Amino acid sequence: MKSLLVISRDLSGKTALVTGASAGIGKATVAALIEHGAKIIATGRRQEALDALLREHGAHRVKAIAGDLNDGNFVARLVAEATEVEILVSNAGVLKYAPILDLTYEDMENMIGTNVLASFRVTHEIAKVMVKRGRGHIVVMTSTAAREVYPLGSIYCATKHALSAFARALRVELQSKGLKVSEIAPGMVDTDIRNDSDHPAVIAAVNARKFEPLTPEEVAEAVVYAVLSSENSAHDLIELRPRGAAAG
Ligand SMILES: NC(=O)c1ccc[n+]([C@@H]2O[C@H](COP(=O)([O-])OP(=O)(O)OC[C@H]3O[C@@H](n4cnc5c(N)ncnc54)[C@H](OP(=O)(O)O)[C@@H]3O)[C@@H](O)[C@H]2O)c1
Repeated sequence: MKSLLVISRDLSGKTALVTGASAGIGKATVAALIEHGAKIIATGRRQEALDALLREHGAHRVKAIAGDLNDGNFVARLVAEATEVEILVSNAGVLKYAPILDLTYEDMENMIGTNVLASFRVTHEIAKVMVKRGRGHIVVMTSTAAREVYPLGSIYCATKHALSAFARALRVELQSKGLKVSEIAPGMVDTDIRNDSDHPAVIAAVNARKFEPLTPEEVAEAVVYAVLSSENSAHDLIELRPRGAAAG
């Protein structure tokens, strides 16, 4: 689906690093940023999914670097290959919904490791590169779960609260060094992220919902809107949800 966003500015000459580019929101963000002129460094663990991205957009637009963001050595290599990056979309994340007493320690470790620690690490390292250059735009993919706590989402909500606090801290400390930090906080999006959440209580809750999830392309449009902001305008937070899904 083509982006409908019409803004006269574009991203020609800019390179964006997109984490979690192999699927869902990240994959749609790659396409939307390319459509607006950017070059992309795309990362995720699945080499074959990144190869497909390369085939779709061409090697002149996409450089793919596969690896696990929970591996510090991989992040160091990724950052070393991303010195020209002006936009970071820190998007990779995992989710396991379940009643809080049914979550395993491994579930918690996986969500906190990927959504919090790995995201902090890559963002922290890229922020150093941007500060040296005196400009850059960091986009952090949180969730409406960064401001709400709902049944079955305990640890996921905790990780997104932490990520949101980190994004706000980056903004207040680094705005004087030429950095913009935007938080994109979507409600439910139609991706594979819930595939591991097979607890009957979760399946019942998903089946009972009274709205259609957002598409990844709708979220990608919010990312593009943030990074196309004019020089003096900073879109700190964009929260978006499907119509009919507002919480009280
Ligand atoms: N879907 C929603 O309803 C929703 C709503 C609000 C916010 N979000 C947030 O949006 C972001 C993207 O989610 P999505 O819905 O697009 O999910 P998705 O389709 O499952 O995509 C997740 C992406 O993260 C990557 N990833 C996961 N663990 C990784 C690791 N250890 N190292 C490197 N890459 C890793 C995956 O790549 P590989 O599997 O190839 O490693 C994949 O590209 C997440 O931060 C999520 O919390 C999603």
